[in-house]
Amino acid sequence: MSSLLCMCLSTFTSCGVFFLQMGWGDLGAFGEPSKETPNLDQMASEGMLFLDFYAASPLCSPSRAALLTGRLPVRNGFYTTNAHARNAYTPQDIVGGIQDSEILLPELLKKAGYTNKIIGKWHLGHRPQFHPLKHGFDEWFGSPNCHFGPYDNRALPNIPVYRDWEMIGRYYEDFKIDLKTGEANLTQIYLQEALDFISKQQASQQPFFLYWAIDATHAPVYASKHFLGTSQRGRYGDAVREIDDSVGKILKHLQKLGISENTFVFFTSDNGAALISAPKQGGSNGPFLCGKQTTFEGGMREPAIAWWPGHIPAGGVSRQLGSVMDLFTTSLSLVGLQPPSDRQIDGIDLLPAILQGKLIDRGLAGILGTAYGNKGDKSLRTVAWVGENTLFITGKNIQEYIGWLQNIILV
Ligand SMILES: *[C@@H]1O[C@H](CO)[C@@H](O)[C@H](O)[C@H]1NC(C)=O
Repeated sequence: MSSLLCMCLSTFTSCGVFFLQMGWGDLGAFGEPSKETPNLDQMASEGMLFLDFYAASPLCSPSRAALLTGRLPVRNGFYTTNAHARNAYTPQDIVGGIQDSEILLPELLKKAGYTNKIIGKWHLGHRPQFHPLKHGFDEWFGSPNCHFGPYDNRALPNIPVYRDWEMIGRYYEDFKIDLKTGEANLTQIYLQEALDFISKQQASQQPFFLYWAIDATHAPVYASKHFLGTSQRGRYGDAVREIDDSVGKILKHLQKLGISENTFVFFTSDNGAALISAPKQGGSNGPFLCGKQTTFEGGMREPAIAWWPGHIPAGGVSRQLGSVMDLFTTSLSLVGLQPPSDRQIDGIDLLPAILQGKLIDRGLAGILGTAYGNKGDKSLRTVAWVGENTLFITGKNIQEYIGWLQNIILV
């Protein structure tokens, strides 16, 4: 997994949990055999599981840009070209980022009186004009980039950590990540930030949007001491267990404060498990081919759970073809706002699927409009996608799918 999106939208509180690089097959609810995600599995049993839910890109920056704009990466500017112009992705040595002309979900929610916070990795540009507080967020605790490193040098310093406008330290130096043991307290710090933020908003009766974008499952994966060595799946599994535990604590906190029925929570990931980090630091894409950085199912298809007690029928399973871009339109719908009408919005409102079990017809091209792959334009031709009980495949490795799905059509 690459990133967890926990969206909390309250009164509607909206709470988004966005895993980094988490694979479809990483959750017990999706069949992971060691069943080490009891809290996420419970979240699914109390809410709705989406089996056909997709990232907008098999890479973090474009997927996040799509989530927050409701638009395909090819429209919001986070795409690559066959010549590999690197504007798809924003590590610290890339100068690009989210454009002012894009309208982000928190900008719209702010107009409806919401307080918006991002905790964790932003990844839509690190220069001042791209700062989350310039794009609708009221608060930020986290970093502009992934916790790669340590660079420990002048040319590439370690990645900074921010509280709102202020840089408060750097990974490895002030926010320790022990590369040898994998110990870091960051998930605990991000969890505490989330709990404190929710308490503060509840105490002042303030509707909020929380985008909890943690990154412990992105290599180098990390976990705090309490979780290290506890998983059957190695250090990656330790990180998953800590995230699972944290999601459970966030949901329990909402219940304890009496706002769970006013809070819509969605959990998903920004791209599939990174097989390049496997076997020690990569997750599982279940039965699906390949992973992060490919447009195969393993790179794009994500675990997804919607939770909203008292509203979403417990234990629901949806075959709705969904996308992270839908969370933009769905969140607006929850607060009674219309999506912007002056531009193409690709996300659809999932509430009929979530609340009434409807299946909304939509074009496949509408969610798989971009590609990023090591094979350049060839990745476009090897894309595989799933329709209602039917798998369409172009390319090779078809054997891997047989036995998992009822119908296979070669195109
Ligand atoms: C994590 O926090 C504990 C308790 O405060 C501390 O002993 C430990 O050194 C911290 N670990 C890291 C890697 O920062």
